[in-house]
Amino acid sequence: MPDRSSRSRTAQRASRHTPRRARPALTAAATGALAAAAVLAFSPTAQAADTLGGAAAQHGRYFGAAVAPHLGETDYESTLNREFSSVVAENAMKWDATEPSRGQFNFSGGDQLVAYAQQHGKFVRGHALVWHAQQPGWVQGLTGDNLRQAMRNHIAGVAGHYKGKIDSWDVVNEAFEWDGSRRQSNLQQQLGNGWIEDAFRAAKAADPKAKLCYNDYGTDGINAKSDAIYRMVKDFRARGVPLDCVGFQSHLASNSDLSTYRQNLQRFADLGVHVQITELDVGGSGAAQANVYRQVTQACVAIARCNGITVWGVTDKYSWRAQETPLPFNSSYQKKEAYGAVLAALNSAAS
Ligand code: XIL
Repeated sequence: MPDRSSRSRTAQRASRHTPRRARPALTAAATGALAAAAVLAFSPTAQAADTLGGAAAQHGRYFGAAVAPHLGETDYESTLNREFSSVVAENAMKWDATEPSRGQFNFSGGDQLVAYAQQHGKFVRGHALVWHAQQPGWVQGLTGDNLRQAMRNHIAGVAGHYKGKIDSWDVVNEAFEWDGSRRQSNLQQQLGNGWIEDAFRAAKAADPKAKLCYNDYGTDGINAKSDAIYRMVKDFRARGVPLDCVGFQSHLASNSDLSTYRQNLQRFADLGVHVQITELDVGGSGAAQANVYRQVTQACVAIARCNGITVWGVTDKYSWRAQETPLPFNSSYQKKEAYGAVLAALNSAAS
């Protein structure tokens, strides 16, 4: 491993906000270098890091990417290896991929990604245990207690399989509407309001050490939706429901209003949970796009409980919003202005 990588690994371990890496990646050598690396990483004279993962590690944070099955492509894999310190499966750990028939689990895609992460010393985010979308057909027709049992069994099966290997799980994804009401999914209609806490309790039982997150989009400021999620998190914390983190997907545009972005993250952090930017991408190009990336990065760096940032893809080439060219690397894997803005924001001191 090049020097900068080992520095970033040890620097991340040095922070009390350190996310958990895939276990076999934690080497004795890394532990031995811990004290020296901590001094180096937090010294004002430390050299600026030249990768996103390395620069984020200076603040004890990860910088990750969503990964699709393109690891065989040389530029894809080398960009991922070099720049990112965390990975999440773009699709491979979702319900339709992991349990295509009831009780028949398929972990092939997820296992490949976890093995890659362990070989390369990267964190893994898990995404997503329960969601209204990308459910297998057999789930969509279930009612009442039958659906409740299927949900619990799915969480036990998937989170149990990856127990100890996942830094943070998106336990529940996208359960609220813009107006702050509960999304009228099959889960909500069949199981009633209690299904979200039920899912978190099942995840806690299956993998007690993973950080358990609620994840959503459209929560990029103080608004009716983020208000409702805030109330839920506050209530869960008060009642001891095991929720540790809130994911802000942050699917943005160059003209997104970010005037209350940081303030919104901060109010969640003030409830005692971690916050994470989980699916960042920004439609657009040039300075306008870079400016949004800068603001999001600065917000995470400024908030002690912000563990890290994940962009939703390695390259514009394979982005789910490819026509909007929303990522820091273009379709030829060249660094865009957005990349420079993120790296500079990570390399500047935390405020
Ligand atoms: C998207 C993937 O990027 C696509 O490949 C797939 O076809 C649909 O899902 N919010 C989420 C992610 O939580 O799982 C979604 O990912 C994007 C929106």
